[in-house]
Amino acid sequence: MSHMLSRREFLAAAATGAAASALPISVASAQASNTESTAGSIAGNASTSAPAPAAADIYVAPTGERELVIGSLDDLEAQARKILPPGAFAYIASGADNQVTIRSNREELDRIRLLPRYLVGKPAPDLSTTLLGEKLSMPIITAPMGAQGLAHESAEIGAARGTGEAGTLYTMSTAANRTIEEVAAATRGPKWFQIYLHDDRGPSRELLQRAEAAGFTAIVFTIDAFAPGASDETVRLGFSFPPNLPLVNSKTPFFKRSLGWDDVEFIQRTTRLPVILKGVVSPELAREAVKRGVAAIQVSNHGGRGLDGIPATITLLPGIVEAVDGRVPVIMDSGIRRGTDVFKALALGADAVALGRPVLYGLALGGSRGVKSVYDRIAAELQRAMLIAGVSTIDEINSDYIYEG
Ligand SMILES: Cc1cc2nc3c(=O)[nH]c(=O)nc-3n(C[C@H](O)[C@H](O)[C@H](O)COP(=O)(O)O)c2cc1C
Repeated sequence: MSHMLSRREFLAAAATGAAASALPISVASAQASNTESTAGSIAGNASTSAPAPAAADIYVAPTGERELVIGSLDDLEAQARKILPPGAFAYIASGADNQVTIRSNREELDRIRLLPRYLVGKPAPDLSTTLLGEKLSMPIITAPMGAQGLAHESAEIGAARGTGEAGTLYTMSTAANRTIEEVAAATRGPKWFQIYLHDDRGPSRELLQRAEAAGFTAIVFTIDAFAPGASDETVRLGFSFPPNLPLVNSKTPFFKRSLGWDDVEFIQRTTRLPVILKGVVSPELAREAVKRGVAAIQVSNHGGRGLDGIPATITLLPGIVEAVDGRVPVIMDSGIRRGTDVFKALALGADAVALGRPVLYGLALGGSRGVKSVYDRIAAELQRAMLIAGVSTIDEINSDYIYEG
């Protein structure tokens, strides 16, 4: 049975800071930015005078389904800004505090230089790869992101479907607007379930069991989301999670804030699925995780939404790869926007990367077809990068292609 968060419950969670990363901060007061038919809005909020009655705070997400012509994934942010209510856009786009981490995710990727090898007579690049036994069309997967109903009416259904159509893997967040079973049915592609633990183990156990029963093939345990999602811009805009977009899988908005290895053990004992640790930012933690039987490491700074000042993930990656020493796969996210970014992450030892915000922008702008367009574009860029660099398979990408100066 799904559980609707009441407005009071949500506000209580936000006030104590207990709501997890997908949860925004205050009341649904964002204004619709325009009136395009596919644009999102908050019904009843157009008036500038008397506050709209609670019943009228209905969030209306974009509904358009279309293929997108994408020059650069970066273009999508400005386009999405035009069709999303400002609060929802800020919630998705911004990073924490001074946005140091979100900026450095990009700056540090841009700083790396590549060196191709010519006259090597390689066949056409093949982007396919395998990750924890899942066959993928490319080494790029969808990162878990909550509240996808903010981006599009189809919410997680559209994002999962678009990702699956692109032949790659969708990670569903605990903080989703659609049920575990609906999302599982929406994609023919592989899928993982990301868990935020509750204080009580009962509801978490139930989520893990439902995910396994629905056909998810791994559990992603996010360890870095105590109080993210609070950016200056969402505070200024007084943004909150719209009451008509409930988090239908969690029975409570309160997620566990004090995590330890006993929580990892609890998940490992409760599910037969492999457990991936997401939010790893140090070699020590990665080493300990591997020792404790974690199946994969996801190097992530939550897209700059958590502790501002954490270094870029591309900076942290080599040390973590060294600590893991090939024993389990390493996935990296935060800031990936280009085929060359994927190439760089793989060259520095990642087995795959995860894409965050661009998927939500593609979803907002074109539904599941928009998401597919995002993957088509970044795959074309990666293919081009591989072709010019002189590699024909994903496994061949290594540090020999990084220019050391
Ligand atoms: C709107 C939004 C919601 C997110 N919600 C979650 C979540 O529910 N669980 C989680 O593990 N990570 C969450 N994340 C973090 C992503 O999984 C990922 O680490 C990050 O977005 C990657 O950075 P990028 O957006 O720069 O690609 C969220 C990110 C965004 C943008």
